[in-house]
Amino acid sequence: MKKRVLSGIQPTGNIHIGNYIGAIRQWVDSQDKYDNIFCIVDLHAITVPIEPKQLKHTIRQLATLLFAAGITPEKSALFVQSHVSEHAEMAWIITCMTPWGWLHRMTQFKEKSSNAENFSVGLFAYPALMAADILLYDSDLVPVGEDQKQHLELTRDIAQRINALYGKDILKIPQAVIPEVGSRIMGLDDPTKKMSKSEDTANHAIHLLDTPDVIRRKIKRATTDSFREIRFNEERHGVNNLLTIYEAFTKMSRPDIESHFAGKGYGDLKKELTEVVIEGLRPLQTRYHELASDKKHVDLLLAEGADKVRATANRTLRRVHKTIGLG
Ligand code: TYM
Repeated sequence: MKKRVLSGIQPTGNIHIGNYIGAIRQWVDSQDKYDNIFCIVDLHAITVPIEPKQLKHTIRQLATLLFAAGITPEKSALFVQSHVSEHAEMAWIITCMTPWGWLHRMTQFKEKSSNAENFSVGLFAYPALMAADILLYDSDLVPVGEDQKQHLELTRDIAQRINALYGKDILKIPQAVIPEVGSRIMGLDDPTKKMSKSEDTANHAIHLLDTPDVIRRKIKRATTDSFREIRFNEERHGVNNLLTIYEAFTKMSRPDIESHFAGKGYGDLKKELTEVVIEGLRPLQTRYHELASDKKHVDLLLAEGADKVRATANRTLRRVHKTIGLG
């Protein structure tokens, strides 16, 4: 029996190379090894205000991008969270079994709520919905970037708590899988901050559909420092980030990268990185433009994805209902 992988991504537009290196690429590369479920988490996207037309558009665009990146329907079920209503129901049950203080500690909630004037209860309960996504499928492995680590630890704590409360192993304890390279890609304009979909300054992130000219401009303007040496060094955020992106795209070793750039300047690093990123994204972009013209086909694949996973989700939910005495 193959281990089950589950992961999710929010359809909030602006998918960037951080999402790609930290998550999407891992999903694609390990498809043969596992039983894979990938979820476009639209119910998470509505925890903050989002325009209906935009949401609808971004869901399909993200699905097209994921297929273009190499998610194959034969190997993986890719579906939209709201198409499988068990997610919302399981989330409510989990919300009721999660101590308030556990959610209140989440750093992502603290960051997001501190920027919003009037945030929703949904934003607070967000990690319980994420736990539901994972626990519904008895997932073994959850490949994510580093920013989701705390949510994964919370998911494990919640599952353990529910198992202990009812004296049975009704929920499987999942494990996070965080890539060794590129688990936290930083913003190009401010390399002390994580590259993020919600940051909308012009040179913050490289988006997966950026044209070569846009990529060139963004990397050219990326923040570096006043030193010269091109070396991996966590304290030199800007250069370290550019080198990490180079490492992720070329899969070269760190010593090889450092010797390759020995004696060269930041201009050379930026030029070479630009080419590596443009070429690295080219196949995905070409495939995207082929697929994007057939919206009906993408919608059909998503419907098939939901059909594949629904029975599993329902089985887990019935098991939970029975254990806790619902209905
Ligand atoms: P989201 O949509 O913010 O991000 C999708 C994936 O991209 C990773 N990521 C990054 N990796 C490296 N560097 C970055 N700068 C960077 N930014 C984002 C994220 O870690 C994530 O793996 N809550 C999740 C979605 C979710 C989910 C789930 C994930 C909902 N349910 C169940 C796993 C399992 C989120 O908002 O990801």
